[in-house]
Amino acid sequence: MAGRATCASSPPFNFYHRPFPTVLHYLIERRLQETVTAVCPSADTSQILVRPCVNSQFGDYQSNALMGLAKQKKMNPRRLAESVKERLDVGDYCEAVEIAGAGFLNFRLKNSAVVEVLKGACRGEHLFLQKSGKPRTIVIDFSSPNVAKPMHVGHIRSTILGDCLARTFRFMGHRVITDNHLGDWGTQFGKLLVGWRRHLDPAALAADPIGEMERLYRLVNEACDSEAEVLESARQELVKLQKGDPDNLAIWQKMIALSREQFDAIYGRLGVQFDFCLGESYYNPRLKSVVDQLVEAGMARESEGAMVVFFEDISELKAHPAIILKSDGAANYTTTDLATLLYRVETWRPDEIIYVTDARQQLHFKQVFTIFRRWQPQARPRLAHVWFGTILGEDGKPFKTRSGAIIKLADLLDEAEERAYQVVTAKNPELDEERRREIARIVGIGAIKYADLLPNRQSDYVFSWDKMLALNGNTAPYLLYAYTRIRSIFRRLSESSEAVYQLAEAADRPWSLTVVEEVVLAKHLLNLGLVLEAVSEEYRPNYLCNYLYELAGHFARFYETCPVLKAGGDERFQRLALCDLTSQVLQMGLGILGIETTDQM
Ligand code: ARG
Repeated sequence: MAGRATCASSPPFNFYHRPFPTVLHYLIERRLQETVTAVCPSADTSQILVRPCVNSQFGDYQSNALMGLAKQKKMNPRRLAESVKERLDVGDYCEAVEIAGAGFLNFRLKNSAVVEVLKGACRGEHLFLQKSGKPRTIVIDFSSPNVAKPMHVGHIRSTILGDCLARTFRFMGHRVITDNHLGDWGTQFGKLLVGWRRHLDPAALAADPIGEMERLYRLVNEACDSEAEVLESARQELVKLQKGDPDNLAIWQKMIALSREQFDAIYGRLGVQFDFCLGESYYNPRLKSVVDQLVEAGMARESEGAMVVFFEDISELKAHPAIILKSDGAANYTTTDLATLLYRVETWRPDEIIYVTDARQQLHFKQVFTIFRRWQPQARPRLAHVWFGTILGEDGKPFKTRSGAIIKLADLLDEAEERAYQVVTAKNPELDEERRREIARIVGIGAIKYADLLPNRQSDYVFSWDKMLALNGNTAPYLLYAYTRIRSIFRRLSESSEAVYQLAEAADRPWSLTVVEEVVLAKHLLNLGLVLEAVSEEYRPNYLCNYLYELAGHFARFYETCPVLKAGGDERFQRLALCDLTSQVLQMGLGILGIETTDQM
């Protein structure tokens, strides 16, 4: 994958060979759980967790679990903490454990333990990550644009977020199946067919296929409002398509092919790939059986000519029954999603299915998940709707062009690259044009992705070119620049006569982490695994963004305080290794966000 570290000096990773634990906090957690079991045999140890300390003054990790346990068992929390502490043996990894407040346990890592983990990373045994012991199969449904319509900024979040989640899960060792649930079926095709037959401009279609199809749709859609004949023709064309009329099918297929070409061009630019692209139409043959089964199971009944599922016993859905067959006999988005869900469960046997769409589809997925659970109670996958907020313009309204039109994704990417080109040129006028263009591509696309992944996904965010392209601040350009600065240390090193440095060799030398900035940087590296777990648990890549931003900050402070190339002997090796590992983690982290790196900026 793109995030694979490529430092010439680093040996390939082997995640499975781990003489010393990669993730110290797990080890502390496990020992704590064992000790709690010894002290209180009936305790549910799955609740006994160890997490990073919010305030490093108190230590590196903390557990607040004993207070909850004490409450549950009607024990004195402080006394429980003391008896656990007495028996707890984490001396290999931690300084003396401290009890704070009502019963918090605080752990501070021993530098010697931190060094052992770093040395493992130097030897290429891990990069601060322990792959999941039990790989899960995870289906991710994302992007899913609609045929004959341009992908707009609303689809960008689904595409970027979904791709990042796919990369995260893959990276952690899970089996990921990505599926682009293309909107390639529905009543809009009646109007599109009328437009195609009556008003098609072949030259315009060749030049800008989606633009032309969009024009046809608008034209006919407007005509339908005033002319009953046009509306009737659209209805007839739709019926013919649904019945399999070969001419209409051929036109419909052409529309899909042309749309997919344009979508694929964008996916290519974004570096996004799908394992499957089974659009809505793929499920047409399965819709009738879904309706029949739901009726047979007594879950759907007739209401005003339609087949409807009611949720009388669920307060949030009570007022929102779901139609699964309209009164004209047509199935809809809900029916299609139920058929899709069953297909995925039967075909891929996933442990988890994730849908990435905007906030407006929350009700839809609540209905779909609820119906599915009742209909297929034995089906095991965890179902998650990962929803996100709206992208706003600087005026605080949904992001549009100046003239109020929808912004097309392709135009947005062009502009990002162009603006990044200005930034790169200002910074590096001596680089040749082609190189500057290539760097601008990486920076521009990276900036858009990062700006999208950084905010809490459930909040709206304001799209600001100046903010996302700033070289200072929590941005992709800042992180990419931090990465190039570290790589330039190694460039200088290889140009100098003292080019004796091998990352693996740093593992054989004695280390001493004496300067605070070194210790802070080293301990931050150790937390990568925890952060990725939080990302995958809550589907929130912003945790990784912030982790990387903090990493770059810790690195900058380390580099200001600690001479690297001017240091000598073991100290020089150790600091070069810290630089090297930091650049590997930055590169890997950006890779998981779907952002490429460059050695020069
Ligand atoms: N095509 C839909 C849209 O643009 C998104 C589909 C999401 N996936 C799903 N299985 N419903 O709004």
